[in-house]
Amino acid sequence: MLPAMAAKPTVAIVGPGRLGTALAVELKRAGYRVREIVSRSSGASRRKARELAGVTRARAATSETARLDAGLIWFCVPDREISSAARELAPRTAWKGKLVFHSSGALASEELNVLRRRGATVAAVHPLMTFVRGAIPSLEGVPFGVEGDASAVRAARGIVRSLGGQLFAVPKNRKAAYHAWGTFTSPLLVAMLVTMEQVARAAGLSKAASRQYMLPIVRQTLANYARLGPVGAFSGPIVRGDAAIVRKHLRVLQKVPGSREVYVALARAALRHLPVRNRRELERALRP
Ligand SMILES: NC(=O)c1ccc[n+]([C@@H]2O[C@H](COP(=O)([O-])OP(=O)(O)OC[C@H]3O[C@@H](n4cnc5c(N)ncnc54)[C@H](OP(=O)(O)O)[C@@H]3O)[C@@H](O)[C@H]2O)c1
Repeated sequence: MLPAMAAKPTVAIVGPGRLGTALAVELKRAGYRVREIVSRSSGASRRKARELAGVTRARAATSETARLDAGLIWFCVPDREISSAARELAPRTAWKGKLVFHSSGALASEELNVLRRRGATVAAVHPLMTFVRGAIPSLEGVPFGVEGDASAVRAARGIVRSLGGQLFAVPKNRKAAYHAWGTFTSPLLVAMLVTMEQVARAAGLSKAASRQYMLPIVRQTLANYARLGPVGAFSGPIVRGDAAIVRKHLRVLQKVPGSREVYVALARAALRHLPVRNRRELERALRP
């Protein structure tokens, strides 16, 4: 078995950002040896690499000094940087037998072709989870969408399992749709929450109060959705077919820039996918 294919290969993380930090910490916690954290060479980037290397007992390096002597090289750089970072690091080690992952949900493993041509086995391994500064989420039960060389996918399955996650295949030609879905699950959900804060201000609530007051109903909605599904979790004026109330909402939302468009788009989605009373009248109310 090649060292990279060992049950727990040693790891180098390229890009000590949001995902890179969480992965390095979680891999370390799961018993992997993190050998190297590779950053760009600016002062700020090196500081981040040093900090993460300290936490994971790894070596901090830059693209110019990286040894890349680990079995698994995991690129955690922004999507637009993956192929150029791979090109930059290509001459720094022998790639034959190494395992190389990137974590873009939108781009295919071909971004790593420069390393594949040098003998690495490659895969795109995308955790369907949100990683932000200041929070390291548990990876227990987290699905990871994967696509790539068969042997890299096999190795990824073992690694993801040891992190508590589970792998599922995402066909190359469906990655854009997969990632659009992923974008709805967290970033656009946050966009909706921030729109809610704006609407709450029109009701006289501060941002802080609106956040505090809306969390119980938002949490309960998610719990209902998980237990009862979308139809069981759907309440309010649209399911009741209360078109007069919807018209009142639309009038007042004109005062909150952008919120009316969001409301109309979501209300139309409700009419399309959920059971509602008085559908015709609601459709009329939601016309531009
Ligand atoms: N965050 C998430 O929720 C999430 C979830 C799933 C998948 N992903 C995927 O994870 C990848 C990284 O996303 P992120 O959110 O973690 O981005 P991020 O927080 O911006 O981190 C990217 C890191 O890569 C570094 N970097 C950029 N170019 C580099 C290079 N050539 N060599 C070495 N380091 C380099 C950046 O350093 P400097 O800019 O400081 O130099 C930064 O530390 C993306 O492919 C993304 O699609 C992210």
